[in-house]
Amino acid sequence: MNLSPIPVCITVGTRPEAIKMAPVIQAFKRSPQFHTTVILTGQHREMVDQVMQLFELKADYDLAIMQPKQTLTDITCNALRGLDELFQKLNPAIVLVQGDTTTAFAAALAAFYQKIPVGHVEAGLRTDNIFNPFPEEANRRLVSQIAQLHFAPTSLSVENLKKSGVLSGIHQTGNTVIDALLQVADRNPPCEIPGLDWTEYRVILSTVHRRENWGEPLSDIAQGMLKVLEAFPDTALLLPLHRNPTVREPLTAMLGNHPRVFLIEPLDYVELVGAMKRSYLLLTDSGGIQEEAPSLGKPVLVLRETTERPEAMMAGTAKLIGTDTDRILTETSALLSDQKSYDAMAGAINPFGDGKAADRIVKLVADYFSLGT
Ligand code: UD1
Repeated sequence: MNLSPIPVCITVGTRPEAIKMAPVIQAFKRSPQFHTTVILTGQHREMVDQVMQLFELKADYDLAIMQPKQTLTDITCNALRGLDELFQKLNPAIVLVQGDTTTAFAAALAAFYQKIPVGHVEAGLRTDNIFNPFPEEANRRLVSQIAQLHFAPTSLSVENLKKSGVLSGIHQTGNTVIDALLQVADRNPPCEIPGLDWTEYRVILSTVHRRENWGEPLSDIAQGMLKVLEAFPDTALLLPLHRNPTVREPLTAMLGNHPRVFLIEPLDYVELVGAMKRSYLLLTDSGGIQEEAPSLGKPVLVLRETTERPEAMMAGTAKLIGTDTDRILTETSALLSDQKSYDAMAGAINPFGDGKAADRIVKLVADYFSLGT
């Protein structure tokens, strides 16, 4: 039996990685069997810093790579080089990466080049189109080929991994986002938006950021939202803007002048959970929100053409509606005017987890190193 703590590096680049890794970092830090080092690539800046503060986490290293209008190549090259140097210095026994961002891919590759085992949190999500979502579908497939341990959230993601040729190291753990959400939802999260009276309107909470939606789809989405507001005077739209100017500038131009549209800075995670709890329904292209909203009993209409989370569709908590203006109007109107369809979606059971995924992951990594528990 190995008695000195095993050195583990946990990498985080973007806000959703920070949210989903927070419970994992906490659980590893609690365990005396591991010596845990947290590395931020800095792919995102303010949006990650908020999450780290919220979960009372401190990064040990920060590569601070973010540049305005960064390209995928910028992120990959800068993260790969920085992580390569750090892994040489720290010599971890395992590197944990999360999800499908460019940080996750670069971290897995940097570890692979030094023959360090990789554990992949949230493994096995798939669409059948490598270009959609772009570049995430390729990122997660590539990480699966490199990783030794695959922490799959659901039975479907286990099946996807088997189908993609992964032969061993697959474990179904649930999604760590539910661990994070339950921690925060318990705190009775506040959400005060200047000028918005939550009791006066049915609030539609929306987030949009995906690369596939840049350009024309984004303006179709905005037109759809305006039509919904016109058809339902008792609704308001709350839209926290992603920091990326490619998203925020056109949305501000198209929606900024409507009296019932509230365009705000990105909410911190507590406020976002508070807003989800108070809103009537969600219109989003985010992946994490599709997983979280069912735990809060809110229907989600997904502004994408494909999803790697069909579990939400099968459970009836979310519906894939794309970005067509008229479809957005029809689907949103159906939920706003038909209580029965609303209740059916709001009452469905969350298929993504029970809030104990992070502890399972720590145990599985301990088993991998034959530490016993
Ligand atoms: C990234 C992930 C995506 C994830 C999303 C969550 C990749 C390829 N994409 O996309 O999978 O769903 O994060 O948000 O890894 N910016 C800031 N401050 C911040 C964060 C972003 O100013 O705190 C701006 C910068 O101008 C940056 C831009 O946003 O250039 C885009 O960030 P980037 O990480 O390239 O892409 P995302 O669209 O955020």
